[in-house]
Amino acid sequence: MNCPRIPLILLLFSSVHGFQYTNLANYVDSHQEEYVEALREWVAVESDSSNILKRSELHRMMELTAKKLQQMGGSVNLIDIGNQELPDGQIIMLPNVVTAQFGNDSDKRTVCIYGHTDVQPAKLEDGWATDPFNLTEINGNLYGRGASDNKAPVLAWIHAVEAYKSLNMELPVNVKFIFEGMEETGSNGLDAMIQSHRDTFFSDVDYIIISDCGWLSRKPALTYGTRGNCYFFAEVEGPKQDLHSGVYGGTVIEPMTDIIGLLDTLISPSGKILIPGIREAVAPLSDEEWKMYQDIQFDLDSYMSKIGVSQLMYNNKVDLLAHRWRYPTVSIHGIEGAFSDPGTKTVIPAKVIAKFSIRQVPNMEPVMVKKQVTEYLHSMFAKRRSPNKLKVTMVIGAKPWIADIRDLLYEAGKAAVKRVFNTDPDLIREGGTIPIAKTFQDVTGKSIIMLPIGGFDDGLHSQNEKISRYNYIEGTKLFIAYLYEVSQIKKSSV
Ligand SMILES: *[C@@H]1O[C@H](CO)[C@@H](O)[C@H](O)[C@H]1NC(C)=O
Ligand SMILES: *[C@@H]1O[C@H](CO)[C@@H](O)[C@H](O)[C@H]1NC(C)=O
Ligand SMILES: [Zn+2]
Repeated sequence: MNCPRIPLILLLFSSVHGFQYTNLANYVDSHQEEYVEALREWVAVESDSSNILKRSELHRMMELTAKKLQQMGGSVNLIDIGNQELPDGQIIMLPNVVTAQFGNDSDKRTVCIYGHTDVQPAKLEDGWATDPFNLTEINGNLYGRGASDNKAPVLAWIHAVEAYKSLNMELPVNVKFIFEGMEETGSNGLDAMIQSHRDTFFSDVDYIIISDCGWLSRKPALTYGTRGNCYFFAEVEGPKQDLHSGVYGGTVIEPMTDIIGLLDTLISPSGKILIPGIREAVAPLSDEEWKMYQDIQFDLDSYMSKIGVSQLMYNNKVDLLAHRWRYPTVSIHGIEGAFSDPGTKTVIPAKVIAKFSIRQVPNMEPVMVKKQVTEYLHSMFAKRRSPNKLKVTMVIGAKPWIADIRDLLYEAGKAAVKRVFNTDPDLIREGGTIPIAKTFQDVTGKSIIMLPIGGFDDGLHSQNEKISRYNYIEGTKLFIAYLYEVSQIKKSSV
């Protein structure tokens, strides 16, 4: 009814200063060979953070990362995060954390993008079809260790900023980067670095963005939760040394029999956790959540064939996704001290250590889980009336992370996906753990979004890891669009 007339001058202004997505997307398309070359250069650096013999490569990787950001005119810092003590007592230097800043206009929002440029180990002999450190393109896929986890996403973010700068377009938001080199081995030193920079580097940050995960299908996705993990050692100790099973078998109560009996009390064959209190702590599945899972595109048959099984724990999509993302589970990983070489040694191990973990979800608390598991195992052990000694320790207690999908960061994500892919994203969770998300949330108090560009079949940590050229290039456009969409969140609305 009341239609205000917009002065012509304002229309002209907005056409010049509005978001010129097409120009930026064209720029990305015409520079894609350079982006692939940049990825080739990074993949060639064997920045394996788990192998101390590769530490110089890891240092070189952090320097390359810093150099790239410096060349783009960012204000860049290499931050010394101290040393690492190895199990043998040797002390080696941790790779520097790289931070960078582009723009510091106090009228704009400030986003901080986290990524990592270290990788998992890889060897051709492990069963790779191509040299893992020589990026190789086959049928539109770029194969190489670290291609998807996390070098291409980090480069895509850098190229997104570079595209704005090269076209002399103002960045819609101030951009900060924080790139580490120890993610694959537990982000050693990063928690302390985040703590100590809370009132400096992080003080003006409004939002944190993490792109260290993948889509669920061929459809783009926004990730709003990850499971945590409580990792346990259960040790049963009996005789003072290993015994001959012919000479002593039948006369002693064997630690291995005890531990296997105990492990069998953790979870039922149908996947029900038997430790009292755990299932009760899990947040109930809401109707909205159920509907969201129902709408997600996910094919159980291709999931089964990908992992090579003929049956799953649940045979419908909603239950399967829910148990992958939002319910806890127990996994038994191995028994140390057990005779594991091929052959037929007839030993009674004197001491065995079982390793198992429980994936954490809201509203489980690691301290409670520790208590519940310890008390339960001791009570089950008491029933066995064994003279052996049981010791239970929790060695990792990583909390789950969950975002509110009504947060405007997710609205911005939906708008960016719509603009680039002309579809709505799936809202998904990750079954695995990204502990740094919880640290960012707890220390900085900022809201976080996980904005993945990796494909569902990228093979992270596995042989033949890859990212598709499509995901890498369109992902760069997604990041460009996201920087704009996030700038549209009004300061007063948060
Ligand atoms: C912040 O702004 C000042 C003044 O415009 C400028 O001199 C400085 O280089 C900027 N710093 C960063 C990190 O962009
Ligand atoms: C990488 O692979 C290509 C194709 O097989 C080969 O031509 C090239 O020499 C390799 N580069 C390195 C550094 O090994
Ligand atoms: Zn990663």
